[in-house]
Amino acid sequence: MIQIAPSMLAADFLHLDKDVEIVNENADLFHLDIMDGVFVPNISYGFPVVEAIATVARKPMDAHLMIVHPEKYIERFARIGVSMLSFHLNATDKPAQTLLHIRETGMKAGLVINPDMPVDSLYPYLHLCDYIILMSVYAGFGGQKFIDDTYGRIRTLKAEIDRQGLPVQIEVDGGVCPANAKALVDAGAEILVAGSAVFKAEDPAAVIASMRG
Ligand code: DX5
Ligand code: ZN
Repeated sequence: MIQIAPSMLAADFLHLDKDVEIVNENADLFHLDIMDGVFVPNISYGFPVVEAIATVARKPMDAHLMIVHPEKYIERFARIGVSMLSFHLNATDKPAQTLLHIRETGMKAGLVINPDMPVDSLYPYLHLCDYIILMSVYAGFGGQKFIDDTYGRIRTLKAEIDRQGLPVQIEVDGGVCPANAKALVDAGAEILVAGSAVFKAEDPAAVIASMRG
């Protein structure tokens, strides 16, 4: 089953309730991009916004941390009710410990890499992950152009996950839209994040439906 995770970074923050309902009614997960202006150059939003979404979310929240010291905030995201928590492999010197800690809280644990980081850098940690986010743009901003190398990277990662016999899901994030969704799923992706493609569309529900294939 393919899951569609609209990125709330592209939502209308003056009418957030409207875009939250679009996800509740049509999609599978809330993708929440947390940026600190240090790990990435941009700053997005933080706990008050995630807490507000949590009060009305009827779909699980998938928080993507683009911050330094992700280990410091695990308990806080768990308390808010986030179901999936991911961080970048190069954001901490204790990735294994951080993944274990996330799982201990009952959340699913995910590891993220940017397009210039080799896929095999993930291999030592796969058994500690519930999902991997392969970035198909450089983390930091919504609305960027999808990088085509991603298809090959998904296939390579999927082959290793299968070789190790693990139930790890592959999530793809950045520039995902109806035009590339099917090829991403064919390559092995199971969770598709889409920000601009969904929320900048005339008919977000139709875009989500068309990405399901
Ligand atoms: C980029 C974020 C993405 C972004 C996706 O740093 O991780 O989740 O919001 O937005 P689009 O779909 O517009 O590329
Ligand atoms: Zn993201």
